[in-house]
Amino acid sequence: MREAPYGLVSHAKAAYMVRRGLDARRNSRKVPFAIQYLYVATGESMPSASSSDLVLYERDGGVALITINNPPVNALAKDVRIAVADFLEAAADDQAVLVVTIRGNGRNLCGGADIREFNTPDREVRPMTRDLMNLIEAMEKPVVAAIHGPTLGGGLELALGCHYRMVHPDARLGLPEVLRGVIPGAGGTQRLPRLVGFAKAVEMITTGSSVDPGTALELGLVDQMAVGDDFLDEVMRFARNLIACDAGPRRVSEMTVDLDAEAGTALVAEIRTQLERTARGMQAPFRCLESVANTLSMPFADGWVREAEISRETIASVESRSLVHAFFAERQVSRIPDISAATARRTIKRTTIIGAGTMGGGIAMSFANSGLPVTLVETGQEALDGGLARIEANYAATRDRGRLSAADMEARMRLITGAVGIDAAADVDLVIEAVYEEMGVKQSVFRDLDRIARDGAILATNTSTLDVDAIAAVTQRPGDVLGLHFFSPANVMTLLEIVRAEKTENDVIATVLDLSSRIGKTGVVVGVCDGFVGNRMLAPYFRQCDFLVEEGAMPEDMDRVAEEFGFRMGPFRVSDLAGLDISWAIEKRRAETRPVAERFSPLLQRICELGRHGQKTGAGWYRYEGRSAIPDPEVAALIYTRSDEMGIARRAISDEEIRQRMIYSLINEGAKILEEGLAIRSSDIDVVWLHGYGFPRWRGGPMFYADMVGLPEIVATLDGYHVEWGDKWEPAALLRELADAGSSFQEWDEGRAA
Ligand SMILES: NC(=O)c1ccc[n+]([C@@H]2O[C@H](COP(=O)([O-])OP(=O)(O)OC[C@H]3O[C@@H](n4cnc5c(N)ncnc54)[C@H](O)[C@@H]3O)[C@@H](O)[C@H]2O)c1
Repeated sequence: MREAPYGLVSHAKAAYMVRRGLDARRNSRKVPFAIQYLYVATGESMPSASSSDLVLYERDGGVALITINNPPVNALAKDVRIAVADFLEAAADDQAVLVVTIRGNGRNLCGGADIREFNTPDREVRPMTRDLMNLIEAMEKPVVAAIHGPTLGGGLELALGCHYRMVHPDARLGLPEVLRGVIPGAGGTQRLPRLVGFAKAVEMITTGSSVDPGTALELGLVDQMAVGDDFLDEVMRFARNLIACDAGPRRVSEMTVDLDAEAGTALVAEIRTQLERTARGMQAPFRCLESVANTLSMPFADGWVREAEISRETIASVESRSLVHAFFAERQVSRIPDISAATARRTIKRTTIIGAGTMGGGIAMSFANSGLPVTLVETGQEALDGGLARIEANYAATRDRGRLSAADMEARMRLITGAVGIDAAADVDLVIEAVYEEMGVKQSVFRDLDRIARDGAILATNTSTLDVDAIAAVTQRPGDVLGLHFFSPANVMTLLEIVRAEKTENDVIATVLDLSSRIGKTGVVVGVCDGFVGNRMLAPYFRQCDFLVEEGAMPEDMDRVAEEFGFRMGPFRVSDLAGLDISWAIEKRRAETRPVAERFSPLLQRICELGRHGQKTGAGWYRYEGRSAIPDPEVAALIYTRSDEMGIARRAISDEEIRQRMIYSLINEGAKILEEGLAIRSSDIDVVWLHGYGFPRWRGGPMFYADMVGLPEIVATLDGYHVEWGDKWEPAALLRELADAGSSFQEWDEGRAA
C-alpha cells in the first residue's frame, strides 16, 4: 500500500482531489469536516457505481436522489458503501445539485451493517460503514435522510450522519447493536446523545430499544414526519424547501451534549449501578455506556476514534460471537433437510384444543393473540367455565397493567369459544390435546379423535414426557399425529418443540412449522424420547443439583452460581416456581421405569411431604416472603440428614465445580441427543435452551458455549468425573470424537448442512 498522498480528507473530497491532482495538505482549509478520516489512496481505480444497481442515482432539479437498493433490508454491504460514496462525490461535483437526499427502496431506508460481513475482510473495505457516515456529514451541500421502515443500527447511524431527517409514520428507529454484543460503531454513540440528549441516548443504546416516529419527532431525532401517502413527494418538498431557505449543512457532530461533565458523571454512575442488576454478566451494555459517556469528556473527533476501538473489542468478544450465533441459530431452525418450500402444506383455519387447564388455556391465548380462532373442549361445563374464566382473568390482569386495551381483550376473548364433549373436534383442521399427563387418558382421547376427526386433520399432543409414537399407534392415521410441546405459561413462552414421531408425514411438520411462527413461537423439530430435547437435558442437570446438595452445596449456592452464569433463575428457585408437587409426580412416574441409580434424591419427596410445594404454598426449597426466596433452616436440616444417611462427609464445593457439573451435564446429554438423531443441529438445541429455559443468550446456548470453552477441555473434565463418579459421566461418543478431531459442534452442524 502506498503512502496516502492526499492526507486526511473525506472520501468524496479525496476522489475529487484525485481527479484534479490536488494535494490535501495545501488545501486542508477547504476540507470542511472536522473529523476527517484517512483516505488511503491505493492507486486502485475507483469502482464505478453506475455499473451496479445496488444504489441508484438521479437528479430532479436541484435535488440529487441516492436510493439504496439492496434487498431485503438495504444492508450496507461493501459495494453499497462504495457506490453511495461515489454518488456523494458525483453530487458534490455537480453544480446543479443543491441538496442531496438518501432513501431506501423496498421495506426500509437501511438495515445497517451487513451482519454477514462480521469477521470477514469485506467489513474493512473502505469506505467502512463508519467512514460513510462521515463522508455524508462532510458534504457541503445539505443531505436529507428519508427514513422509512425499520431503520436500525447502521441504518439509523447513516441517518444521523445526514444533516436533516424526514420520517415516514411506519418507521422504527433505534440502535440495537447491544443485542448483538457490540456497540454502535459508526458514530451512533457519539451522535445520538448530541441530538436527543444524553439520558435518552444512553437508554436507547444500552438496551437496544427503538422508538416510533412520533417519539422520534418529540426527541428531535427527526425534523419532520410525513403525513400524506406519497412519502417521496413529501421528502422532495422538504428538500426543495431547504434550497428555498438557503439552508446549509447541519452537522450533528458539531452539536454539544445537553449535560455538563458533573451531572453527566453522576448519571453515568447511576446507570452503571442499574446495569449491574439488569445486564449481569454481560459486557456490551457497559461498553455502550462507556462510549456514550465519552461525549461528556471528549470532543467528537476523539470520541469517534475511541468508539472505533471499543467497537473492535466488542466485535471480537465471545459475547458478540455468541449473540450472533443465537441470531443465526434462530433463522436456521426452520430449515429441515427433507422439507422445502415445495413441500405441501395443509390448511389450518379451525383449531380445537382438548383440555382447558393450565396449558390448554395458554395455548388458546397464543392463537387468539395472533388473531386465530380456537375452540376449547372440556368434559363438563364446570371445567370449561373454569378454564374460560382463568383466561379472562389472565387477560384482565394484562389489561389492568395497561398492556392490553379493553377492546383488544374483548376481540381476543371473542376468538376463544368453548364446547363440552369431544365432538367439537369433528370438523376442524388441527386438534391439540392438553389433557392430564397419563398415557391411558391420552390414548383414549386419540381413539376418539381417530373416530371423529375429519380426514387430513392434524392431531397433536402436548405431552411433556409420554411416548408420542405410543399415542399415535392407537389411531389408524399415525401419519397425522405429532407432538406439539408448548412450554408454560404457553401464552408467554416462545419455545415450541415440534415432536416428529416415527410416522409423522412431512406435510404435517411443514404445516406446523409455518403455524408456529404465525402464533409467535419458535418451533424446533425434535424426535421422540423421554423429555424430548429440553426436559431430557434438564434431567441430568437437576440430578447434578441433587448430588451437589448431598455432597455439600446448598440450594442458594447453586442458584447463585447459575444466576451468575447468566440463567434468569437458578434451578431451585425455578423448581419452587413451577411447583415441587408437579416435579414429584413426574419423578414418581419415572421411578417406575428407571434404574435406581438414575432416580432422584428422596429430598424432593421429604420436602413435598411437609406440604412445601414451592412458591405457591409459601415454602419449598426456600421460605418465601412475597417473591423473595429466603434460605430456610428446616430445609438445611433435611439436607444435612440426607448427607448423614448417605455417609457423605459434606465438603466445601467451589463455584467452578458447581458450574461445570451443572453445565457440562447439559452439554453431554445434548451431544447424546445429536448422536441419536433427535435434534437436527446443535444450534437447534441452543435455540431450545434460549427460548425455553432462560439460558443466557449472550452465551449462545449450551452447545455453542461448549465450543467456546473448547471440547477437549470439556472431555478432559468429564473424563475426570467419570473416574471419580462412574458411568453417568462418560463423555458422549460424539463429544469425544469432535474433541479428538479438534472440531466443534458448529463444524459438525456445517458438515451436515453441506
Ligand atoms: N403444566 C406444564 O408446565 C406443562 C408444560 C408442558 C406440557 N404440559 C402437558 O400439558 C398437558 C396438560 O397439562 P396441564 O398442566 O394443562 O394440566 P391441567 O390439569 O391443568 O389440565 C388438564 C385439563 O384437561 C381436562 N381434561 C381431562 N381429560 C379430558 C378429556 N378427556 N377431554 C377434555 N378435557 C379433559 C381437565 O378437566 C383439565 O382441565 C399434560 O400432558 C402436561 O404434561 C404441561
